[in-house]
Amino acid sequence: MRSESETQFDDDPFGIRVAERLKRLPPYLFGKINKLKHDQRQAGVDVIDLGMGNPTDPPDPLVTEKLREAVEDSRNHRYSVSQGIANLRKEVAKRYWKRFGVRLDPDREIIACLGSKEGFSHLCLAMMGPGDTAVVPAPSFPIHVYAIVLASGNVIAIDVRDPSKFLERVAYTCEHLYPKPKLVIANFPHNPSGTCIEQDFYAELVKLAKKYDFYVISDFAYADIGFEGYVPPSFLATPGAKDVGVEFTTMSKAYSMAGWRIGFCAGNPEMVRALGTIKGYYDYGIFQAVQIAAIIAMRHGDQAIDALTAEYQSRRDALCDGLERIGWPIEKPKAGMFVWTAIPEPWAEMGSIPFAMKLIEEAGVAVSPGRGFGEEGEGHLRLAIVENAQRLRQAVRQIDRCLRSDEGA
Ligand SMILES: Cc1ncc(COP(=O)(O)O)c(C=O)c1O
Repeated sequence: MRSESETQFDDDPFGIRVAERLKRLPPYLFGKINKLKHDQRQAGVDVIDLGMGNPTDPPDPLVTEKLREAVEDSRNHRYSVSQGIANLRKEVAKRYWKRFGVRLDPDREIIACLGSKEGFSHLCLAMMGPGDTAVVPAPSFPIHVYAIVLASGNVIAIDVRDPSKFLERVAYTCEHLYPKPKLVIANFPHNPSGTCIEQDFYAELVKLAKKYDFYVISDFAYADIGFEGYVPPSFLATPGAKDVGVEFTTMSKAYSMAGWRIGFCAGNPEMVRALGTIKGYYDYGIFQAVQIAAIIAMRHGDQAIDALTAEYQSRRDALCDGLERIGWPIEKPKAGMFVWTAIPEPWAEMGSIPFAMKLIEEAGVAVSPGRGFGEEGEGHLRLAIVENAQRLRQAVRQIDRCLRSDEGA
């Protein structure tokens, strides 16, 4: 296998003269795992797939019904507007007010995106260029790193698992790096580590942003999925946040609308305008029927979100309690869709990619190896609680059988 550095300096990895920025991308680390998963399925194995945070639950029937109705209206099949229709942006503003007490101007401070990942990537392209540096939480959700790389910026990865140390290191980096970082990415509840923070974290981050003159992008994908009364705080609810940054939210997770591709960027009007400008060139907006159905989801979706959150909590408990019982110590996440765990001791040396492959081959359970989230993720696994509790208990039994047969060997 080629090493990452070999690939980065490979002159012609595609056999055509691709742009330099494409050559800066390392090989796709989940490729081997995905192939193995596919091969196992071809061979008839019912793989329990905890690999991706891709919800298996359907959206609220109210929402699919509205989509059906909107699809029948021929006016909705034309190009829409790149920033999202006005009523959709108004609904986002209402939700921010109701949930977080944040006032947003739907015209200047909110823009709809084709999923938050699209918006995040294009905002990085709008803000970052050669010579610019971004601080990115580590271990890292890949696009947090590669949106910067694709925009020709530099990345400083800072371990996020201890949030107060993260802030200290951001401050230290700003004191010692020249030029200083231009952008700091926040993502709480964090994917993949599940790290959560309280509002005071953002108060400190805003203070640092003003002191050292950097911008903030908060990726708030798991805004609505908090357990046991924990409500993940919004960056925008911090006084002064709008002066320095924006926040991305998505309908992919709490609304189970991942395939619909709809998310939002809200906050600093100049950053929203920068994203709107670049999007105005690249796209014609989200399918209008999807935008109309999304309005209904936000307007009437609270009960469905509460029910789904309760469901995720019971899945979390089924998986974590089950793994504890087989001798695998787990820290339960307070929010989000993932369980992040160290590989148990006897197999810790093996490395996360071979261990994840072992679990697919020998236990029929697919998980994400921590290495896929950068070097800081090595030694860990990420398990998405996207299958129901019964399947998760089955996954634990299969993992138990696989690891026991190893110990007996
Ligand atoms: C932290 C984080 N941000 C963004 C996304 C992507 O969201 P979207 O579907 O809105 O592009 C994900 C999906 O896994 C995520 O975990």
